[in-house]
Amino acid sequence: MEHFRLAIYDSAVFFVFLYLRVAGESGRFGSAHIHILSNIMTTFTQDSTLLAIESSCDETSAALFVGAELRSNIISSQMFHTTFGGIVPELASRAHVQGISAVVREALQTSGLAMSDVDAIAVTQRPGLAGSLVVGANFAKGLALRYGLPIVAVDHIEGHIYSAFIENHDIAFPFLALIVSGGHTSLFHVESFERYSAIGSTRDDAAGEAFDKIAKLLGLGYPGGIHIDRLAKEGNPSAIAFPRSMLRDDSFDFSFSGLKTAVRTYCQKTLQHPPNDQQLRDICASAQEAIVEVLVHKTLRAAERHQARDIVVAGGVAANSRLRALLRERAEHQGRRVFIPAMAYCTDNAAMIGCIGREKLLHGTKSPLTFTIGVGSLRAQYRP
Ligand code: KG4
Ligand code: ZN
Repeated sequence: MEHFRLAIYDSAVFFVFLYLRVAGESGRFGSAHIHILSNIMTTFTQDSTLLAIESSCDETSAALFVGAELRSNIISSQMFHTTFGGIVPELASRAHVQGISAVVREALQTSGLAMSDVDAIAVTQRPGLAGSLVVGANFAKGLALRYGLPIVAVDHIEGHIYSAFIENHDIAFPFLALIVSGGHTSLFHVESFERYSAIGSTRDDAAGEAFDKIAKLLGLGYPGGIHIDRLAKEGNPSAIAFPRSMLRDDSFDFSFSGLKTAVRTYCQKTLQHPPNDQQLRDICASAQEAIVEVLVHKTLRAAERHQARDIVVAGGVAANSRLRALLRERAEHQGRRVFIPAMAYCTDNAAMIGCIGREKLLHGTKSPLTFTIGVGSLRAQYRP
C-alpha cells in the first residue's frame, strides 16, 4: 500500500512536472507553438505516424510507426533488478521516471522524426505494476495534451497477442496465441484484430515464474529461464520424472507451482546433498521438459479444438530453445505453422503496443485523457 501511494505521488508530481517542462521546452520535442487540444480530432489513416510507449514492468520502451513501417523500437531494460533476485516495484517506477524522456527522444531520433510529425500516441494501460504503468500513461497524456494528439490506451497482453504482426502479415485468423512470460501464461483464441478470448490461463505460477523460482532454489541467477535453458542443453530430460501438472486435464489451464515443490523435494530427499554439475544439468533438463511438454501439448490441443492452423508464441519464455524446437516439430507434423516474433518483440516492448494501437486507431478507437491505469496480473484478469 505504501509503495502504491508513493508511486501515485511520484506520478502526480511527475505529470505536472512533465507537462510544464514539455510545454515550455518546445524546441527539444519539436513544434514551436503550444497548441493544446488543437489536433485532437485528426483522423488516423493508413499513413499516419504513431508514437507508442510501454512501461508496465521493468522495461521502458518507445517505438515509432510511419504507416505500417516500424521505424524504431528503443528498449531500456532495468538490469539492476537482477541483484535483488526479482523486480522491486518501487525502484522500477523510479527508473521509468528517470529514463522515459530519454527513451522517447532516442526513438524519435532513430526514426528521423520529431514530435511535430506524430499523429497519435498509443500507451500501455494494463495490466502491470501500478507505479510503472502510471509513469508511461502520464508521460503519454502529457505529450497528447501538449501536442493535441489523440491517445489510445492499450492492453499489454493484447500487445503480446498481436506482436507477430510486426514482422509478418501472413498470419491467418483464427489463430492460437500462447503468451508465456514471467508474469503471464495464457492461451488465446484470436478471431480478428478486435475479437479474441482467453481459453486457458495459469492457476498459480506463470511459466517464467516457475523457471525463475526453480533457478533460484538451484542457486542459479535471475532471470532463471536463461540459465536453465543453457544448462539443460547438456542434461538428460528423462533423468527425473517431474510431474506434468494438468497435462491430461480437459481444460486449457496450467499449473506450475507443484513443479517447483517437486524440484525442491527431489534435491532435499533424493539427493540429500547439493547437486554436482551433471546432476544440476539433469535437473534443469528434466524440469524444463516438464514445463515445455505441458505448454506444447495444451497449445496443440487448443489449436485442434479451435481449428486454428497458425500458432503465435510470445513473451520472454518464447526464447526457450526447447519450447521453440518441440512446438515447431509437433506443429509442423500436424500441418500447423508457428510464428515466434524476434526476441525484441517477444519480451516487453513498445513496438507491440504500437502495432495493436495502430489497428485500434484505424478502427476509430480513442481513449479519453482521463483514462486510468489497470493494475493486477494477467492471472486475475484473463480467466476464461
Ligand atoms: O516477457 P519478459 O521479458 O518479462 C515479463 O515477465 O513480462 O519475460 C521474462 C521471463 C522470465 O521469467 C525469464 O526467466 C523468462 O522470461 N525467460 C526464459 C528464457 N529467457 C527468458 N524462460 C525460459 N527459457 C529462456 N531461454
Ligand atoms: Zn509482457
